[in-house]
Amino acid sequence: MKFFGTMEARNNELYIGGVGVGSLREKFGTPLYIIDEESFKEKVQIFIDNFKSDKFETRVIYASKAFTNLYMVNLVAELGLYLDVVSGGELYTALKGGMASERIYYHGNNKLYDELEFAISDAVGTIVVDNEYEYRLISKIANRDQVRISILLRVNPGIEAKTHKYIQTAKHDSKFGMSIFNEKTKELIEKMNADKCIDFRGIHCHIGSQIFDEKFFFAAAQAMIQFAYDIETKLNLDIKEINLGGGFGVYYTEKDEPFNLPEFLQKYIRLIEEKLSALAFNVEIISIEPGRSLINNAGSTIYTIGGIKETITGLQYLFVDGGMTDNPRHALYQAAYEAGIANKINDELVQEYTVSGKLCETGDILIKNVMLPEASPGDILVIPSTGSYNYSMSSNYNGMKKPAVVFVKNGECQLAVKRESYDDLIRNDVARK
Ligand SMILES: Cc1ncc(COP(=O)(O)O)c(C=O)c1O
Repeated sequence: MKFFGTMEARNNELYIGGVGVGSLREKFGTPLYIIDEESFKEKVQIFIDNFKSDKFETRVIYASKAFTNLYMVNLVAELGLYLDVVSGGELYTALKGGMASERIYYHGNNKLYDELEFAISDAVGTIVVDNEYEYRLISKIANRDQVRISILLRVNPGIEAKTHKYIQTAKHDSKFGMSIFNEKTKELIEKMNADKCIDFRGIHCHIGSQIFDEKFFFAAAQAMIQFAYDIETKLNLDIKEINLGGGFGVYYTEKDEPFNLPEFLQKYIRLIEEKLSALAFNVEIISIEPGRSLINNAGSTIYTIGGIKETITGLQYLFVDGGMTDNPRHALYQAAYEAGIANKINDELVQEYTVSGKLCETGDILIKNVMLPEASPGDILVIPSTGSYNYSMSSNYNGMKKPAVVFVKNGECQLAVKRESYDDLIRNDVARK
């Protein structure tokens, strides 16, 4: 198991943020999401320090869908990031967490009327429009309220990035945005630009997630700049911002080869500068929206090991007290992870296990075939690199209580989300009369 951030072994026990994982279990129980605050901050700094240019303003927008709660928003705001939200719920969390509304980008392919009213009444900085219907809703609300809304249009540059098909988002048949090859896209831009209630500022794309080949990002950036230039010159309007989305791949297992981030980000900026300069094209802001690459490796999940069972075929199942309800990624797209036994962190790896949860689904697998020390009931299983798309995708299936979230740093811990209780599970139920 690869160590990240402040992870270290002390007396054969895993410590994160200077706190023993055993003491975290005692205090908060399991399953438990643990976030290494310093590790997250370090990643943020890498993005801010390397994605910058003296030719235009750069913005790093944290994609809150990866992992969000009030503590996280506080941190994101304090670190000077912008924030991307995709629903009224994420917007509510962002505002309650103290994010300045003008620093929020609101995404989504089917924003509801009441969500748009909420965003507009709270003066969200930028709404990223997905389609014409949505533009009409925004225009109607803006006209009624006599306000002017800053918008970007999500476009699809038709880049088929190599990643799992469920997280590709810019194939020609993707549900997101409008194709740059479609005349209707230009017509919509013209319409929005002529609308007095709309401040049409530019375009956005996001080509997918967990992408390791820089050529897809570079091709998308070039296509986006070219498209922005074409519409600026042909439609006689002013493109102020190009948002290139997120999707930078991260390490889960040895098969993943993430970018050297400083090198990649500097090369990305240079390519953008060169393309702009080749066209003699000026843009005020270039933004990116990393989620996974900021938070994933800062997060670990711990479980208590229960039964260990050998099938007639010789498969060794290791059962834990969570499962696909706290981490649905293997069930969704066969995601792979490494793992360790936190209280035997330096013991020799002697046995191959399939880690499975306690849910009534055969697909309730967390890891297939992982080498671990000899496990016993009561041991603590740790799965690192679970900071993104785990807590945010968790569910109450089978009446599972969502786990707690704790942040650790400098030998201290702070609870950020309480473990749900049985009462939480029936909080919204209405008994039969
Ligand atoms: C519009 C948009 N921006 C940013 C992201 C963040 O992607 P990642 O977490 O892979 O960086 C996503 C993820 O789906 C997205 O849809």
